Amino acid sequence: MEIPVIASLNGVTAGGWLECALAIQDAGADALELNVYYVPGDSSETGAAVEQRYLDIVAALLPKVSIPVAVKLSSQFSAPLDFIRTLEQGGVQGVCLFNRFYQPDIDLDTLAMVPTLNLSSSIESLLRVRWAGMLYGHTDCGIAVTGGFHTAADALKALLAGADVVHLCSALLQQGPGLIETLLADMQRWLEEKEYSSVNQLRGSLSCRHAPNPADYARANYIDVLDSYSVPDGVEF
Ligand SMILES: Cc1cc2nc3c(=O)[nH]c(=O)nc-3n(C[C@H](O)[C@H](O)[C@H](O)COP(=O)(O)O)c2cc1C
Repeated sequence: MEIPVIASLNGVTAGGWLECALAIQDAGADALELNVYYVPGDSSETGAAVEQRYLDIVAALLPKVSIPVAVKLSSQFSAPLDFIRTLEQGGVQGVCLFNRFYQPDIDLDTLAMVPTLNLSSSIESLLRVRWAGMLYGHTDCGIAVTGGFHTAADALKALLAGADVVHLCSALLQQGPGLIETLLADMQRWLEEKEYSSVNQLRGSLSCRHAPNPADYARANYIDVLDSYSVPDGVEF
């Protein structure tokens, strides 16, 4: 089998579960993804402390394993690019943008919080595409994206922005593993139509680093975006 196996560990503290990492490596995983699924709900915890939590977990894990380690990040850091560089200095070799935190719903009849699993849609991929584009060229870490990737178009946008890897989950749950063959064929067709000879040729070509005006890229042409809205027919203000 030529497909590399990347195991995923999920936790929020530098606790004993990190021992699992060694067991996963011994079982033959090629790399490890560390998913810090942490929601900072303590009002006395600072942003720096939340970042330190990630760094402590990485520092506890890395000496235990020799396989590459990637970290799956929340999208809610004040300065993601700087934080990713700090993770890289700590020995992390890949980052995954971003964790998709599940939002509990509120049942208005029972007045109870209800755990709800809503699968993603393509629109969510744009946040990941954007940050892959911001990050490209600023790190030697591999850049993976996860969250909202359903179609060949979604995946191609991520590659153009600068991602190395695109994860699929909701799309596979909804359409089954046969989707992968369709996606790869659709991507291949697009590459041929656009006369790209390799993925490397397009990767990062629409990143902030390669933008004619990086400041506009970072601000995503805010005013133009707002101006592009038109009121639907029949709606009166
Ligand atoms: C049913 C289900 C189970 C999941 N289990 C895990 C898990 O064990 N570890 C993890 O890191 N992410 C887990 N995820 C998150 C996915 O890996 C992925 O990051 C997320 O669903 C966003 O990608 P998507 O839009 O392709 O679904 C799970 C998602 C779903 C829907």
